[in-house]
Amino acid sequence: MTTASIRPAHHLQGAIAPPGDKSISHRALMLSSLANGSSTISGLSSGLDVLATAEIFRQLGAEITDDGGLVTVVSSGALRAAGGPLDCGNSGTTMRLLAGILAGLPGRHQMIGDASLSKRPMDRVAIPLRLMGARVDGIGERLLPPIEIHGGALNGIVYEVPEPSAQVKSALLLAGLVAEGSTTVVEAVKTRTHTEEMLEVAGIGIESVPEGSGRRITVQPGTPRAMDWVVATDPSQAAFTVVAGLLARTGGVEILDLYPGEERIGFLSVLERMGATLSRALKDGRLTIDVAPSLLHGTTVQSIEIPSVDEVPILAVAALRAEGPTRFVDVGELRFKESDRMEATARLVRSFGGEARIEGDDLLVTPAKRGPIEVEIDPLGDHRLAMAASIAALSSDEGSEVVVRDIECISTSYPAFFEHLRSLGAAVEVEAS
Ligand code: S3P
Repeated sequence: MTTASIRPAHHLQGAIAPPGDKSISHRALMLSSLANGSSTISGLSSGLDVLATAEIFRQLGAEITDDGGLVTVVSSGALRAAGGPLDCGNSGTTMRLLAGILAGLPGRHQMIGDASLSKRPMDRVAIPLRLMGARVDGIGERLLPPIEIHGGALNGIVYEVPEPSAQVKSALLLAGLVAEGSTTVVEAVKTRTHTEEMLEVAGIGIESVPEGSGRRITVQPGTPRAMDWVVATDPSQAAFTVVAGLLARTGGVEILDLYPGEERIGFLSVLERMGATLSRALKDGRLTIDVAPSLLHGTTVQSIEIPSVDEVPILAVAALRAEGPTRFVDVGELRFKESDRMEATARLVRSFGGEARIEGDDLLVTPAKRGPIEVEIDPLGDHRLAMAASIAALSSDEGSEVVVRDIECISTSYPAFFEHLRSLGAAVEVEAS
């Protein structure tokens, strides 16, 4: 096990380019593997989740090489069943999007995952994929992994996704590439649009129109073309260093090259509402943010502002250090992430001396009292919890001693996390035992 001892750091200064966006990275590998030809990807995330996707597409027949930064994918576009289990590791995005691709790939496929992924429901993708004609099996009523898919001919459907989920939307759009006729996905809440955007760039016929507070997206069958993809940096990973910069007392943190899509950066507006001084500059489709130390106050956060609720753990740390309570409304989807993040975030807040209450699908956070604390945090294998705990540690009062256990999980999405914190001036000791 590897632990991190993190001392309070009240002066943070410097510029950070977060890792390549995880969602875009998975999709760049997938679309390049479905294409016929040679594609390149620059800025690909080096997190283990994305490496799991790369390894799976190698098993399915794509040639994927990484020569120190530029990844090349060579594929005939005709993938084939692997003949062995496809290991998605900790990555729900890999498993759910892959399900959509395997549903239309003739043969029998098995997807497996680690202990955390093996507890996450796959019925949300299996139900619509069955409607398209695929055979999808898993364990129990919620279809937990291992998942077996018998891929074959698919028919297009019109499907209203019951939960706000870009993964489900994306699985169906990817399945739609080989279906008979068009496939339409209706989402009640606008979720991240990477799949639609990237399919369009890769030459696929796809149309997205607003409907109510969501969208109706229709994809036509087709083969994505081989492309040179450039991956912007990841807003959800940036959220950790943004909050670190806000909670510092002096200094300033600059975050570079972010993907600017509105479904990904809602957390910035939440923080501004809490009193954050942030300045944003959009240039050549990339967002730079300057973060100044700020005194924050509590707010009410609607889940629709941060549709995948990925930023709740780190926003809860901001709330822990704010003046007055913060309520996260309708964030029940937290229960289906890499851990039960509803419970885990509440526990994190309490460990740092704040109060947390779960009321139905709402999470209420009351700030911590001032004063040094001594605490050891177990993030339960959840990368976002481990990173949120680390930022809570940095923003603790002088004399605090915080240890975050089992920090290996951070490598699933942000291998350079502690290196980046140190470059801002934080004192972090990492120790393997
Ligand atoms: C993702 C979608 C989100 C998010 C995940 C990545 C994606 O999940 O939590 O980290 O790349 O499509 P949901 O589909 O459950 O919202």
